[in-house]
Amino acid sequence: MGSKVTLKYSIISIPMQEKKMQKYAEQTQQEFEGWEEFFNKPVDEKLENFKRNDRIYDVIYAQQFDRNFLDYLCNLADMIRLLAKTKVGQSKLRHLLPHKRAMLYFVQPSTRTFLSFQNACHILGLTISEIRGTSTSSEVKGESPEDTIRTFASYVDLIISRHPEAGFAEKTAWVLNQTEHPVPVLNGGSGPDQHPTQALLDIYTLEREFRTIGGLDGKKIAMVGDLKRGRTVRSLSYLMKNYQDVELIYVAPEVFRMKDDITEFLRKHRIPFHETDDFESIMPEVDAIYMTRIQNEYAEGPVSEAESFPEFHLKKKHLSMIQTHCAILHPLPRRYEIEIIIDKDPRAAYWRQERCGMWIRAALIAYIFGVEKVIFEEFS
Ligand code: NCD
Repeated sequence: MGSKVTLKYSIISIPMQEKKMQKYAEQTQQEFEGWEEFFNKPVDEKLENFKRNDRIYDVIYAQQFDRNFLDYLCNLADMIRLLAKTKVGQSKLRHLLPHKRAMLYFVQPSTRTFLSFQNACHILGLTISEIRGTSTSSEVKGESPEDTIRTFASYVDLIISRHPEAGFAEKTAWVLNQTEHPVPVLNGGSGPDQHPTQALLDIYTLEREFRTIGGLDGKKIAMVGDLKRGRTVRSLSYLMKNYQDVELIYVAPEVFRMKDDITEFLRKHRIPFHETDDFESIMPEVDAIYMTRIQNEYAEGPVSEAESFPEFHLKKKHLSMIQTHCAILHPLPRRYEIEIIIDKDPRAAYWRQERCGMWIRAALIAYIFGVEKVIFEEFS
């Protein structure tokens, strides 16, 4: 009888409990004095707020990274990668930050960004806590996201956040920086706006793919797909100002063309670019192709089948049209943008790219806590 009761209890009660947990109250939305004014300032004027002692403290915008920083971080990632090849090296890395704790607050779906940050923390010895949906935090009781985040700062030394809302990571950093107990905030993707650490790993991947042909300087890069709502291509575009003679080609259907804020930025920084919807025509001339998926989650109406835009897919037949050194990137997840058979081609860099994410994020965390000198010393 006991087992029968238990079985009945668990079948009936769990769904009921979940149903009840969905929402107790509307989420509280109180105004933060000064936030609107700060948020509406031009990005360049805000960057100083995310620095401490002349170093980056919060990672919110790709515009925070200059060439020195990018080269420094890529170099550091290479060293971490090399150290991690041996048991002794791994143990040294794990002893760098065992006294630090990180919070992964990921309330928008994620596989790679979450796992690579989590494993970057493991590599450096940090312990982690995680929230992967608002339904399991006190946000269901009506707590505001800002209060939730402030709570994390009471327990951990670093917050890594992914959120569907543009500007959320920035607000988190801004709110915490006014408290007695601020901790660094890393933006792991903020709505359709920015994904600065993805841009770091994309740069690291491109630099590695082009290592024997002079690095990223002087290269022509095509970005393909949903450029309007894809935050990765937006953040990566900002970083191009750090490289000499780079040229961009934006390849997108009319409805998903790159937004004006980015093209204005490129003009301002004299980065040559052009736009086209004829993917095949530019294939022979580019050094890298950065594919992206259609970001249906931001669609306003129901999404139809026709919205997969097959003219913007990379297919097996295209492999003979691109250069022998052309690197193929994709932030992933992939849907139909790249045929599976292409994975076997040595130019397919996207699986290497996702691994680069773990190393560069480990480098970034080591930098944030100022322990990177210990790593450099291993190689001096
Ligand atoms: C990207 C993202 O979340 O913006 N994925 C990722 O972080 N690797 C790209 C995407 O979801 O299309």
